[in-house]
Amino acid sequence: MRYVLIGTGSISNTYVAALSGLEGSKLVACVSRSGRRPSAAPGIECCRSLDAVAAPFDAVIITTPNGLHQDGALAAARLGKHVLTEKPLAITRPAMSAMIEACARAGVTLAVAFQHRTHPDVLALKRLLEAGALGRIYAADLSCKFWRDQAYYDSAPYRGGLDIDGGGPFMQQACHNIDLYQWFFGLPDELVAHRATFAHRIEAEDHGAVLLRHANGMIGTIVASTAARPGLPARLEVVCEKGIVVTLDDRIVNWDIDGVANPGQGAAIAAAPNVATLGDSARHQAILRDFEAAVRDGRAPLADAESARRTVELILRIYGR
Ligand SMILES: NC(=O)c1ccc[n+]([C@@H]2O[C@H](COP(=O)([O-])OP(=O)(O)OC[C@H]3O[C@@H](n4cnc5c(N)ncnc54)[C@H](OP(=O)(O)O)[C@@H]3O)[C@@H](O)[C@H]2O)c1
Repeated sequence: MRYVLIGTGSISNTYVAALSGLEGSKLVACVSRSGRRPSAAPGIECCRSLDAVAAPFDAVIITTPNGLHQDGALAAARLGKHVLTEKPLAITRPAMSAMIEACARAGVTLAVAFQHRTHPDVLALKRLLEAGALGRIYAADLSCKFWRDQAYYDSAPYRGGLDIDGGGPFMQQACHNIDLYQWFFGLPDELVAHRATFAHRIEAEDHGAVLLRHANGMIGTIVASTAARPGLPARLEVVCEKGIVVTLDDRIVNWDIDGVANPGQGAAIAAAPNVATLGDSARHQAILRDFEAAVRDGRAPLADAESARRTVELILRIYGR
């Protein structure tokens, strides 16, 4: 697969690293308004727009800020190219619909880089939940008490704003964990949310808590924060008929489920929740592998657009939008 990166900031370097270890795949060009190449790929062709890319390519990887993902996806679909976009899919319902419809019309794959879904413990838990192996789920409590300093928010004018970031930790930093909550348990029937901005000069929230009630009676809670200095690992506690499961940064750390062996493999954590850059590209490499297999086999990717849309739907409901 020959890729063009649209967006050449912080996360673009994770893709350069991930692609360097993928046989048969390569980065052929990038798109940047300022002409800045990813620091890890200084010699690559760099264009101001996707239409101007001269090198032949098959797919784009979108690493522009949240509210701009649709621009890259629509441009790629017009050219008949497959799309892997960074999370979240987009930050508004119309943008998500436009992306999904354009890619469907063009017959190209649209996938989202929810790399936490590739963690072995997460995959095992998803399979057991789908098989009903944990019995009735009573409660799921997700706590994402992360920390970002003001310098992080000041590092780009859009960070922590509503028009391009689309919100604070619910839309941005805890997006992966809320995606897993949604992937595991679906959308709630009802929710009540409280949000506040405590520790930063930003437009969006930097802390909030949500109480959720699902159609099957499950009661959930979600806390998302970037005001919790120095930050804690993301924690998910599932209370069910057969016992309790606890994950910490995607790893199963407590498994007390009657009659079911702990499927946890103790693999490395999926991400460092308290830094904005990813040092490890292994999970993004897993996302790229899945994306390429989905294109090749004509199947849905692990994080397909419809399922990624539901995650943003949940976040928009938390925001009351
Ligand atoms: N999966 C993960 O774990 C993970 C981790 C970090 C970030 N992300 C996601 O990756 C995306 C990019 O995040 P990042 O931290 O890499 O962003 P960043 O460092 O700010 O880079 C953004 C890139 O987009 C380009 N861009 C185009 N239009 C822009 C505009 N109007 N304002 C600002 N930049 C614009 C910028 O280059 P030019 O100005 O030259 O065009 C820049 O190359 C976000 O969607 C974020 O949620 C995901």
